[in-house]
Amino acid sequence: TSGNGGDSDKEKEKKTLRVVTDAAYAPFEYLDKGEIVGFDIDIVKAVAEEAGYKVDIANTGWDPVFLELEKKIADVGVSAITINDDRKKTYDFSVPYFLSTNKIMVPEGSDIKSAEDLKDKTVAVQNATTGQEAVEGLLGKNSSQIKKFENNNLAILELKAGGADAVVADNTVIEEYAKNNPNDKFVIIEDKDAFAQEFYGLMFPKGSALKVEFDKALNELLDNGTYAKIYNEWFKVDPDVQILKDQQ
Ligand code: ARG
Repeated sequence: TSGNGGDSDKEKEKKTLRVVTDAAYAPFEYLDKGEIVGFDIDIVKAVAEEAGYKVDIANTGWDPVFLELEKKIADVGVSAITINDDRKKTYDFSVPYFLSTNKIMVPEGSDIKSAEDLKDKTVAVQNATTGQEAVEGLLGKNSSQIKKFENNNLAILELKAGGADAVVADNTVIEEYAKNNPNDKFVIIEDKDAFAQEFYGLMFPKGSALKVEFDKALNELLDNGTYAKIYNEWFKVDPDVQILKDQQ
């Protein structure tokens, strides 16, 4: 940092974008001593900077991310948001920046060994996520065995309290949780037949001019090593950039 205080004139001209997130999804977006941090946060900051914008990041919660973008109140949504056809009807997405899949988190010793085993169990999910959708596919759309929560941390608390037999959510989130909370004694189950590959994108209001600018900036970061640097800081391994590029 230059540390000389005061923005340059060029800095001052930059437009500030309203970026919305649900900061209850570590390590992608979460609160650390009141500050919104995470892999997604570093990515959106770097991409915006590359594209020539400043960002103002607001922790709105999950449903408002979608509402604000639909109403064009916010400029960008970043929230480990899976790109899918249903959402594409209402929003625009950047090129993919992360590969994910749903997995199952259960207490150690659970008899749940696959997605199929969820059929006579109670499953906690975050409302309006691909995890909910996947579980609905297994248990039925209106199944009373599906407990929906406003954020994923609440779904995990339900599992902890014994009110659910499993949580279904994005692999990285529950893998990190299980690793960082060994006393909870949760284990993660993968089921590649039941849960598809998903890709996260930055989300924009439909027709936003930012899509093109952000795609260009994100590609620059994928190519120049900045993406890999951020990825490495959070996940301690190198990303598979090619798998993202192949999706474009
Ligand atoms: N990837 C999933 C989806 O798009 C879950 C994302 C939840 N993100 C969050 N910040 N709570 O539906």
